[in-house]
Amino acid sequence: MKKITIAIDGFSSTGKSTLAKQLAATLGYVYVDTGAMYRAVAYFAMQHNLVSETHLDKAGLIAQLPNINLRFQFNPALGFAEMYLNNENIERQIRTIEVSRMVSKVAEISEVRAKLVEQQQEMGKDRGVVMDGRDIGTVVFPDAELKLFMTASSKTRAQRRFDELVEKGQHITYEDVLQNVEERDYIDTHRADSPLVKAEDAVEVDNSSLSKKEQFELVLNLVKAKL
Ligand code: DC
Repeated sequence: MKKITIAIDGFSSTGKSTLAKQLAATLGYVYVDTGAMYRAVAYFAMQHNLVSETHLDKAGLIAQLPNINLRFQFNPALGFAEMYLNNENIERQIRTIEVSRMVSKVAEISEVRAKLVEQQQEMGKDRGVVMDGRDIGTVVFPDAELKLFMTASSKTRAQRRFDELVEKGQHITYEDVLQNVEERDYIDTHRADSPLVKAEDAVEVDNSSLSKKEQFELVLNLVKAKL
């Protein structure tokens, strides 16, 4: 059967990765979580004191880029690929609120984006891929057969992210999560290089009041129409 590229973009915590994983599993496609790659670079920068709440050593991070080796490795027990940085599994470390606070700063750097975009294009070159992020339909795969743009209110998204973090045992308040979601929305939509914007030919999916099942059925019909 014909294989297509599915690009899923949108604001943080709109359920992009849940949807992308479901689609990839159903279609037998590869799922690529590009946010994990930006998070991995942010984590590296934090480990090397190149970024903090108060500073960003942009030149230092750019100089270190050749030393950042990222790869995904499928974990059959979890049913998805985990992020490895220089052969270390950092899947858990990159999901913390501390990394979420730093990642937008790092994702603003054009040299970081160029490196990751190149790697993403390589991973998706044979199609049969579901990739989620902020610039997949606009920059990484402007020729993707299906582009989705996911939205939901910031309060709905913050509540979802808060529930996830609490479940993972993190001590955090809902207000902190809401603030982080709104800050990232602002930075993601206002950065100079590849800001988050809906591609002209993307289908907008607002899931504030859609169940996961309803959303999946809606999207699966869009996919079927392209096959
Ligand atoms: O999807 P996420 O919340 O895990 O993404 C983490 C951050 O990475 C997000 O704040 C924006 C950035 N990002 C990006 O700039 N481009 C992408 N393709 C994916 C993520």
